[in-house]
Amino acid sequence: MITLKSNREIQSMHEAGKLLAACHREVAKLIKPGISTSAIDRFVETYLKKHGAVPEQIGYNGYQYATCASVNDEICHGYPRKEPLANGDIVTIDFVVNLNGSLADSAWTYAVGDVSEEAKGLMDVTLECLYKGIEQAQIGNRIGDIGHAIQTYAEARGYGVVREFTGHGIGPRIHEEPQIPHFGSPGKGLRLKEGMVITIEPMINVGVWESKMDANGWTARTADGKLSAQYEHTIAITKDGPLILTMQ
Ligand code: MF3
Ligand code: CO
Repeated sequence: MITLKSNREIQSMHEAGKLLAACHREVAKLIKPGISTSAIDRFVETYLKKHGAVPEQIGYNGYQYATCASVNDEICHGYPRKEPLANGDIVTIDFVVNLNGSLADSAWTYAVGDVSEEAKGLMDVTLECLYKGIEQAQIGNRIGDIGHAIQTYAEARGYGVVREFTGHGIGPRIHEEPQIPHFGSPGKGLRLKEGMVITIEPMINVGVWESKMDANGWTARTADGKLSAQYEHTIAITKDGPLILTMQ
């Protein structure tokens, strides 16, 4: 079922999103060689609780952590772990905030110390893909317009677009209908309506788009072992265009 949100509900989700954005800014300061993703995970959990919010991912379909922390060839749903991050790694930190029952979801890829030109290029293109997708999140456009904008931008530059994981409607649960693929055909798929709240979260690979699943059943990594990056915002479809809820 697709739930359309009132202006008031969108405002409450925006409050959750602002807190999430503030927490990401603190995470950005922590990321350096030597810190572990489990230390980052603990920081996020403590930060959210201190601000009266709940880390919504804990217990979601059995997931056990406040954050997903996906390093280098990990595409998404990496488990936070004790080993320290190394200079040159890239790490995607993804988490969902529940503030007074309203949700917001955002992921960001961070460079650890000095990263390669390959990693920088991937991060730039992936962030641009997110904004190309957001531009299409307009009343009357179709879901395929979002995916098409992302796919053509990434593939024209030789990158692979992950297909197994998509954006999604959000609120009251993390994953609601509709699915928002990051590939597609213009003019195809469901029409976007005022009051829909969706995530756009392209996962872009240096190499092939295919992924493989770790034995833990959660963590996806690139089939060829090359780098993957991801940026995600929660977006409300409004009369005035796309409203990014996970931003100050
Ligand atoms: N934040 C993730 C997303 O963007 C949701 C992860 S599901 C979890 O869709 F169980 F890992 F939390
Ligand atoms: Co997310």
